[in-house]
Amino acid sequence: MKTVLTIAGSDSSGGAGIQADIKTITAHKLYAMSAVTALTAQNTMGVKSILESTPEFLADQLDCIFLDIVPDAVKIGMVSNSELIRVIAEKLREYQAKNIVVDPVMVATSGSRLLTEGAQKTLIQELLPLADLITPNLKEAECLSGVEICKKEDMIYAAQKISETIDGSVLIKGGHLDDSADDLLYEKEKTIWIRGERIENPNTHGTGCTLSSAIASNLAMGDTIEESVKKAKVYLNGALKNGMNLGHGSGPLNHCYWL
Ligand SMILES: Nc1ncnc2c1ncn2[C@@H]1O[C@H](COP(=O)(O)OP(=O)(O)OP(=O)(O)O)[C@@H](O)[C@H]1O
Ligand SMILES: [Mg+2]
Repeated sequence: MKTVLTIAGSDSSGGAGIQADIKTITAHKLYAMSAVTALTAQNTMGVKSILESTPEFLADQLDCIFLDIVPDAVKIGMVSNSELIRVIAEKLREYQAKNIVVDPVMVATSGSRLLTEGAQKTLIQELLPLADLITPNLKEAECLSGVEICKKEDMIYAAQKISETIDGSVLIKGGHLDDSADDLLYEKEKTIWIRGERIENPNTHGTGCTLSSAIASNLAMGDTIEESVKKAKVYLNGALKNGMNLGHGSGPLNHCYWL
C-alpha cells in the first residue's frame, strides 16, 4: 500500500489540518501518517487557542516516521514558526523525502496573516525550495510574487515570478476569485488552467488542506503533477458539491462523499 505523510496542525473541529488530510488520504485508499506541528482549539467559527509542538518533539515524530514507514509523498501544511520550519526542511533533506507538496499557509481566507514575517522568510528560504509543488491561494501568491492579482491573467504573471525563485511547480488556487474557481498550474514554463465551476456553498472550511493532500495522494500513486492536480480538483469538487452543512460557521467538506 502506498503511504502519505502530512505535516500540519491538528484542527479540533476535524474539517481542516491533519484531520482533513488523513480523511482525504484514506478516501484515496492510501495509508496516512501525521507529524503534528501544533494543536489548535477551533471550530467552524474560528480559532480559540494554539499549542505549538516543540522543535524536538516534531523532529522525534519525523524520525519515527522516516526510520520505519517511508512515505511515498509528503504534504506540508500549517507551520507557524521558524524553528519548526527549519526542523522540517532538515529532516526532509536528511531522509531524501520525495513527492513533496507544500501548502504555504500564510494568509487566511479572511485576509489575516497567519505567519510572522520571520517565519515567512524561513518558509521561503528553507521549505519552498524543497517542494515539487507549492499551492498558494491568491493572497499568498501576491505575498510570494509581489504581484497584485486583480484579474486572472495576473495569476500567470505571479506564477512566473514565483517560479523564478523555486525549482518546483506552482499551483495558484482561485478559490477566492469572483466568477469561477479556476486554478492555475505553472509547470516548467507551461501554463495549465485547471478549470472549476464556482460552487455556491459557504461551507469551505479546509478546502486548501484537502486539495493539497489529495494532490500528494495522487503523486504517491505515481501520477504526474498535472494529472495529480486535475484528479484532486475533481475530488475536491465532489466533497464540496455534496453540500454537507455542519456547525454554525463555514463548515467542513464531506471527504467521503460517495460512501
Ligand atoms: N466555492 C468554491 N467552488 C468551487 N471550488 C472552490 C470553491 N472555493 C474553493 N474552491 C477550490 O478549493 C481549492 C482550494 O482553494 P482556496 O483558494 O479555497 O484555498 P485556500 O484559501 O488556501 O483554502 P483554506 O482557506 O482552506 O486555506 C481550489 O481548488 C479552489 O479552486
Ligand atoms: Mg490555505
